[in-house]
Amino acid sequence: MRTRWLAAAAAAAVIAGTAQVSVGAPAAATPSAPAPAATAVEGGGLAPTPPMGWNSWNKFGCDIDEELIRETADALIESGMKDAGYEYVNIDDCWMAPERDAEGRLQADPERFPNGIAALADYVHERGLKLGIYSSAGTKTCQGLPASLGHEKEDAQSFADWGVDYLKYDNCFNQGVPAIERYKAMGDALAATGRPIVYSLCEWGANDPWLWGDSVNGDLWRTTGDISDRWSSMTSLLDQQVGLEEYSGPSAWNDPDMLEVGNGGMTDREYHAHMSLWSVLNAPLIAGNDLRTMDDTTRAILTDPEVLAVNQDWGGEQGSKRRDDGDTEVWAKPMSDGGAAVVLFNRGDTTRTITATPAELGLPSAKGYAVTDVWADTTRSTSGPVRASVPSHGAAMYVVEPASKPHALAPAVTVGVETPAYVEPGDSASVRTTVFNDGLTAVEDARVELTAPEGWTVEGTGDIGDVPPRQSRTVEWSVAPSGSVEPGTVELEVHGVWTWRESNDYTAETTAALALVEPVPAGRSYLSDVSWVGAENAWGPVERDTSNGESSAGDGRPMTIGGVSYAKGLGAHATSEITYFTDRSCTELTATVGIDDEVGDRGSVTFEVWGDGERLAATDVVRGADAAQTLAADVSGAEVVELRVTEAGDGNTYDHADWADATIDCS
Ligand code: GLA
Repeated sequence: MRTRWLAAAAAAAVIAGTAQVSVGAPAAATPSAPAPAATAVEGGGLAPTPPMGWNSWNKFGCDIDEELIRETADALIESGMKDAGYEYVNIDDCWMAPERDAEGRLQADPERFPNGIAALADYVHERGLKLGIYSSAGTKTCQGLPASLGHEKEDAQSFADWGVDYLKYDNCFNQGVPAIERYKAMGDALAATGRPIVYSLCEWGANDPWLWGDSVNGDLWRTTGDISDRWSSMTSLLDQQVGLEEYSGPSAWNDPDMLEVGNGGMTDREYHAHMSLWSVLNAPLIAGNDLRTMDDTTRAILTDPEVLAVNQDWGGEQGSKRRDDGDTEVWAKPMSDGGAAVVLFNRGDTTRTITATPAELGLPSAKGYAVTDVWADTTRSTSGPVRASVPSHGAAMYVVEPASKPHALAPAVTVGVETPAYVEPGDSASVRTTVFNDGLTAVEDARVELTAPEGWTVEGTGDIGDVPPRQSRTVEWSVAPSGSVEPGTVELEVHGVWTWRESNDYTAETTAALALVEPVPAGRSYLSDVSWVGAENAWGPVERDTSNGESSAGDGRPMTIGGVSYAKGLGAHATSEITYFTDRSCTELTATVGIDDEVGDRGSVTFEVWGDGERLAATDVVRGADAAQTLAADVSGAEVVELRVTEAGDGNTYDHADWADATIDCS
């Protein structure tokens, strides 16, 4: 067990009022009010549970000033986030003036922060919150402003004098000095001030900080590069957490980067999954959206008490991936008071029914278990299976524990739906809905309704009747678009009702996406002239007949690889996935691939062609300086063909990937 766990467990005990240890009040040698409830425990332990708060970077970048920070502190209170546990208000890069003062000290930018950081700390402390600040373990911050390498002592002292409670310490302009040395210098300097300042190492996982972060007094450490407000970014950061669980614990948190919830680049369902997964990972929960204007859905995602309780569980054991079936995954985390938190996660394109066993969740065998849906606040009983119908890019989250009287709880009933992802004009989709009774007692009069938007017809009947325990019942439907429906994706709504012990209050809902797609034309077509059914791209949209271009605004330029220009093709940016519904009618896909000249010799990717989830052809790593090459794939028999660009394992900076002259032959 980790050394700092002991101190942290002591801190938790103090909070719970069960132990007496010496708690030093912060020595506030400061013009600022002392930080509220700062708990210094001998041996470390400033973050007994994952820190919760807000940071300016994800939403505002350098566009920050003291008014924003004050308004955000107010919004934390008004929105209920402070009550939910969010306490740090963290200023990221760009708060400092371009030059140090005459004594060599960092100073706040006089225009953006005319009243200085100490006044801001006062403002935040008066509201029962804490202030965080940012610097880099380099000569400059990532935005080129003065940073702390070689100035650790005076900068740490300034932070302490101002009343700062949290430091995020970045890795830019590090001059090649070994990371441990740089981060230790600041860790020691912070400790020497005597002020408890949570120390967040933002070293991007470059030198395995989970192995040494503790030894430099770090309370948390980034394990990856930066998050962006994209599904592909969030899932790629998630993947990089696997195997790091044993290094995490109280005041020693793995940090997969801040939250993007509410920033608009993902759907609410995706944010819901982001929050569920970050919670079982024991990730620091640092919101990154504009708290002053967030909508109710965003607030609900950020503040659900049961979800936060999983993240803040006092024992602090990080969750891990227990099963990976490709598109669907099971993640689970032991809860300190018994039981397990579980996330059933669906990365695929269609709704899936995902099931986990108590053994996979690390639970002892029992006659029955109580399953609490932490988002919906309902508790049901299961004889074993923990199941959910999870729409594409969604997550279900439960806390499961052995139940002493499982019969007394209503049975866990799941209504699942299986659909094809696509249907062509004139065809119908065959859809199956299944009612699973995982409980220990029967349910009666079960009925399922399936509804589709206007213009679609639904045939089938959902009267199921009784469903005994540990059994399921399936009904089939036929869903078809009328001639007036335009191509595009619709949601089918599935609603189940049943009776248990004379009460008919029991319902379950799920949804499934179904896309009406245009068939790929017969003959040879440029892929840039064919409609795709999905296009994911990490930077701006996938461009037709131009390169990815410079900004996310969709400003592509003529595609050029090795000095040769191409009039036709697709301009992508890793990580990218462009999906075509080929309905088994195509044979050959060919493209001339390479990194666009607009990034010089930078960037590195692989180009891959996939058919029905199988890799059919791929390049080796292609670099910016490489000449164009031909990639051809036999796609015969594939219903769905995907063009994928990976970041080749080194992040996606400059990965402007051209599928020049991409064509497909179909009949
Ligand atoms: C780096 C960090 C980010 C952010 C920016 C600010 O990229 O990893 O989290 O702090 O710097 O410039």
